[in-house]
Amino acid sequence: MPQPNISDSYAELIPGKPIPQHIGIIMDGNGRWAKSRGLPRAAGHRAGTKNIRRLLEEAVRIGVKVLTIYAFSTENWGRPRAEVGHLMRLISQSIRNELDELHANGVQIRHSGRLAGVEPALAKQIQSAIERTKENDTIVLNVAFNYGGRAEIVDAIKNLIQDGIALDDVSEELVSRYLYTAGLPDPDIIVRTGGEYRLSNFLTWQAAYAEYYATPTYWPDFDEAALREAIAVFQGRDRRYGLVR
Ligand code: IPE
Ligand code: IPE
Ligand code: MG
Repeated sequence: MPQPNISDSYAELIPGKPIPQHIGIIMDGNGRWAKSRGLPRAAGHRAGTKNIRRLLEEAVRIGVKVLTIYAFSTENWGRPRAEVGHLMRLISQSIRNELDELHANGVQIRHSGRLAGVEPALAKQIQSAIERTKENDTIVLNVAFNYGGRAEIVDAIKNLIQDGIALDDVSEELVSRYLYTAGLPDPDIIVRTGGEYRLSNFLTWQAAYAEYYATPTYWPDFDEAALREAIAVFQGRDRRYGLVR
């Protein structure tokens, strides 16, 4: 019997099994999605950007507390200038068009990545979105933008040294506090759309014990049901953390 106020979507999740607190998504396949429709890559990025909202809403319904989305990697600067420019404009437009509603819905925006190297106007927009939503607690939308897992560790090491941390005080816990994701739980599951089986420099440190889920579905087609399917698969996994059961 479906319960009132709970979407049918819950049907696919396994009752009694934990819901992932933190989901990381490698939103891949925008370009191929567009190509398969005879459209320019830019159309794929637009469709992909539009797709974020419905997945975020579904994550809230399911009870996920942190959603980290990989929007732009440190390696993506190597793409053609026009594509990079298009991606930067899309981020800026998304903040402009969506921030009021995200804020009204209690979404806390966080950024993981370097702001150095980002166009100053966009960097300012990102900072003010973070500042405005920092008290919100419905869900954390952590945007990995100009993000690289290795760059993150390098930045952490630099900051550690700058703070004069003593050798004996360096621990996994302390390093975690120096990462862009300080204060967030590690991801329970990393979802990759677009069919590849690699991390592409995403959450290198944090994903040490994440479950991986890859699907051939291109990101713009990855819908609510696809997210629930990923979570159901996660719920069927046996997380042993190196121990014996
Ligand atoms: C992911 O889609 C979006 C970004 C990397 C910004 P792609 O642009 O990588 O799409 P494919 O992998 O070429 O299909
Ligand atoms: C990973 O996708 C980065 C993002 C989704 C933002 P890429 O398309 O850049 O990764 P590779 O090139 O397939 O490893
Ligand atoms: Mg790709």
